[in-house]
Amino acid sequence: MKKLLQVLCGEPSEIPPIWLMRQAGRYLPEYRATRTKAGSFLDLCYSPELAAEVTLQPLRRFDFDAAILFADILLIADALGQEVSFVEGKGPVLSPPIRRREDLTCLRPSGEIHERLAPVYETVRLVREAIPGHVALIGFAGAPWTVATYMAAGGGSSDQAAAREWMYRDPEGFGALIDLLTEATLEYLDRQIAAGAEVIKIFDTWAGVLPAERFDRYVTQPTRRIVEALGERWPDVPVIGFPRCSGANYLTFAAETGVAGVALDTSVPLSWARTHLVEAAGGRLVLQGNLDPMLLVTGGEALKEAVRGMVREMTGVPYIVNAGHGITPDADPENVATLVRVVREGI
Ligand code: CP3
Repeated sequence: MKKLLQVLCGEPSEIPPIWLMRQAGRYLPEYRATRTKAGSFLDLCYSPELAAEVTLQPLRRFDFDAAILFADILLIADALGQEVSFVEGKGPVLSPPIRRREDLTCLRPSGEIHERLAPVYETVRLVREAIPGHVALIGFAGAPWTVATYMAAGGGSSDQAAAREWMYRDPEGFGALIDLLTEATLEYLDRQIAAGAEVIKIFDTWAGVLPAERFDRYVTQPTRRIVEALGERWPDVPVIGFPRCSGANYLTFAAETGVAGVALDTSVPLSWARTHLVEAAGGRLVLQGNLDPMLLVTGGEALKEAVRGMVREMTGVPYIVNAGHGITPDADPENVATLVRVVREGI
């Protein structure tokens, strides 16, 4: 069995599996070359051959245990009919912003997203055919809450204010957006699995801005609905959740969503997660993370020490090596190679 799948079944591995969030991306010169060839970032996401190529690039350099589909969490907003573009130096722009109940009429029903997303399913097929036998293919989506923060703001925002404001002013209207995203996301992930994805990761990058009583409605419940629906259709496909920076809410997330694994941001002590988070989940929970991605920029002894410490701490439990967030464009590929070597060879 592929090592990542073995560990996600709850069986520890003496040498833990490793992959990295944003392992395909601008820190790799070959990514930048393909990205230029594609034109826009969205063109890259919607060109199956090129998207498959950039998915495979990091595997040629590094001995990773997983490939992660190359796409973006905002494709679902695009498929629902909001206009999405990525502006150089500014990040994503989504227009018009969706911030009142009436705005929902601009969007398509959740069942009508697949025509636009068909190239993504084709990318999954191409990658699954091309990856080496020991490498697992991860499909993904953004969690409804995080995608909603971009849809409401019309782009990235430092405080997710537009979604938070709508959520308090009109919980029912905002809830309708969350429910639409939940249904669309689960159908999107279902198609990724049908095309060959073996593991699913749900990115909830902005889960940490929600107070506990809203966390349940906008993070825990949508995640649980997606995990349950996929579990009925695909009982052997594990889901990893990533409620980034959610502090003590990690406990309710682990206890109530039914995810097989939880990805940890850099602030969560592995020793704490190993005891308390696993206990909250009833004893069965796989942990992933949580190297500071800055160490992939700076490297040196500090990187090696941190990696050795993580692996030591997680000996004997099902654990996946990863960073606490995505690799940044200024990371040095040499440092990624060192990370893999320290994990594999224990140097
Ligand atoms: O991990 C992988 O290698 C798979 C591909 C992947 C991308 N984005 C490619 C990408 C994944 C899993 C994502 C997830 C994603 N996208 C998240 C959640 C994870 C996280 O980082 O918190 C979020 C919030 C997004 C939204 C997004 N996409 C933003 C805000 C931006 C702009 C940021 C920037 O630096 O310009 C993107 C663009 C993006 N997605 C890039 C890549 C490689 C860079 C775009 C480029 O090549 O110009």
